[in-house]
Amino acid sequence: MAEEKKTFYITTPIYYPSGKLTIGNAYTTVAADSMARYKRAQGYDTFFLTGTDEHGLKIEQKAESKGIKPQEFVDEKAASYKKLWKMLDISYDKFIRTTDDEHVKAVQKIFEKLLKQGDIYLGEYQGWYSVEDEEYFTESQLAEVYKDDNGKVIGGKAPSGHEVKLIKEPSYFFRMSKYADRLLEYYNEHPEFILPHSREKEMVNNFIKPGLEDLSVTRTTVNWGIPVPSDPKHVVYVWIDALSNYITALGYGSDDDSLFKKFWPADVHLVGKEIVRFHTIYWPIMLMALGLPLPKQIFGHGWVLMKNGKMSKSKGNAVYPEMIVERYGLDALRYYLMRAIPFGSDGNFTPEDFVERVNFDLANDLGNLLNRTVSMINQYQDGIVAPVSSQEDEFANSLRETAQDTIKTYYTQMDELHFSQALDTVWKLISRANKYIDETTPWVLNKEGKKEDLSRVMTNLAESLRLVALLIRPIMTESPVKMFKQLGLSLDDEQATSLQWGAYGWNSKVTADPKPIFPRLKNDVEVKYIKEQMAKAKPKKATRSEQKKQEPKHITIDDFDKVEMKVGKILEVSPVKGSKKLLAFKLDFGEDQVRQILSGIAQFYPEYQELVGKKVIAVTNLKPRKMLGQLSQGMLLSSEKQGKVRLAIVDDSHEVGALLG
Ligand code: ME8
Ligand code: MG
Repeated sequence: MAEEKKTFYITTPIYYPSGKLTIGNAYTTVAADSMARYKRAQGYDTFFLTGTDEHGLKIEQKAESKGIKPQEFVDEKAASYKKLWKMLDISYDKFIRTTDDEHVKAVQKIFEKLLKQGDIYLGEYQGWYSVEDEEYFTESQLAEVYKDDNGKVIGGKAPSGHEVKLIKEPSYFFRMSKYADRLLEYYNEHPEFILPHSREKEMVNNFIKPGLEDLSVTRTTVNWGIPVPSDPKHVVYVWIDALSNYITALGYGSDDDSLFKKFWPADVHLVGKEIVRFHTIYWPIMLMALGLPLPKQIFGHGWVLMKNGKMSKSKGNAVYPEMIVERYGLDALRYYLMRAIPFGSDGNFTPEDFVERVNFDLANDLGNLLNRTVSMINQYQDGIVAPVSSQEDEFANSLRETAQDTIKTYYTQMDELHFSQALDTVWKLISRANKYIDETTPWVLNKEGKKEDLSRVMTNLAESLRLVALLIRPIMTESPVKMFKQLGLSLDDEQATSLQWGAYGWNSKVTADPKPIFPRLKNDVEVKYIKEQMAKAKPKKATRSEQKKQEPKHITIDDFDKVEMKVGKILEVSPVKGSKKLLAFKLDFGEDQVRQILSGIAQFYPEYQELVGKKVIAVTNLKPRKMLGQLSQGMLLSSEKQGKVRLAIVDDSHEVGALLG
């Protein structure tokens, strides 16, 4: 019987195709790619999955605002994501889209199976929904609530700051609570299931111990989703649809499930820490209910942070990978992401830190070592790296030992997904090799005519560089190719790619005119450049008049009649505490009606007192809302052009309280 090849199955989250991918998304994907390359190099039959999570209200609304069909919208996005992954050398084996026919059918099968066996039941859902976050909140989870005069909550803000609205609807629920004990038992028996370990404690203490709530898994208020076959006014709501991708991509629930048989359970799901809960609670429970084995590991890595918090597609504080790659090369990005932020922790992206790393680690340490070595080999021995024949010195022994330790430590660290530490280990070998040049002073050996010693030093340096190139190869995809070329080696040569000191034996000719593989960057210039690009990339929030221009819509006279507008006279104007934008107006609308209206025009009226006594137009039947603790009962009309805002002041002949129409 032929021996079965070892398999390795790794996944990234499937990203929402709602905006441009950031270096935050690239972070997970580059990590997964590095792992996949590392395992392939070790002979594992590897399957690396990524893709897009294409259903849901947010996508539906984004498509609508662009005036296109959701399918058209996600097609475009999925294509652009694939293009980016190509640019970043992402070696995925499959790109799944949740709109793929196979996936849709498999999700429907999964849903009906769970329904039939009683794990899913029909109930009613009630919750505060934030479209931007794609998440429901209970009232107590909201960061801010708006109340009407009777103290009833009429709206609010999610912890992210996005507006929420109340949604009540029939919904199917997944009986999560039924599986809580089995899940805890599984955690206990599999201490490596959730990494880093701290995240397991968080799940147990914050979510499982307090009691698992049943999960709402369908919506009737969303159209863009997978219909429930037995009750098609419901669509399957995000998590059952999204999480299933990890098995449907392998053909689970389809006619050909040979990949599923071969690769499931997954070796590791890589996810950002904000979705660890879904992957370590809901996903395992779904699999238990389906009678399937659980993934071996969920790794919840940290966030790439910016000065103002997590970098995200929706926040507009993003750095985009294309800009970095175009200017600094792909390996600068891949190296930075995997080195600067230890996998599992949060880390800040700053332009200063990025430029510094490229200069110190890549241009100085690695780039110089290669450049000096190849130049000396040209200068001292006509470009030839000869096999080592003479006896070794103490420096050579120490260099070799460092290399051997490096390889061992590196394997352990990579196996544990400690990319940053693994690179750190490789860079210790690079430093050791640089020090070896200072110790052996090849220029002196040359002057003294010690040919054999000189040749040994050159070969040991080349050997160190050969190993470095191989060790960084899963993470950096371009430099090893350049390094091998300069050293006169081939990556297809089995001996040249052996990760053992001395395995190659040497006899190669280096490049005659080596170019630095990482040019040194001018610090100030590049920091400024990155900052400019970041500022440019920031999407400006469209003003209301811009929005109207983008979406001209016809309304009927009935629509217009819904708006009540009256002439009001300004009695008082005052700034609103805690806000640079808001002014509070007290207005007389006749018949003893005085109202307060807040308006965000403070910067346009530094001399706001001059407005007292003026007559203006207000919309008087808008739902009252509270801002910064102050009530606003309407809206003042103003005009806006190119950022210039003026109140719509009418002449004195208009009567206070008169209706407009
Ligand atoms: O959550 N730092 O999709 P998503 C680190 N569709 N990682 C980051 C990051 C940052 N600043 N920003 C994004 C979804 N990521 C769901 C997933 S899976 C069945 C469904 C990465 O587009 C990180 O991996 O919001 C995070 O978990 C993922 O992008 C979120 O991508
Ligand atoms: Mg997200």
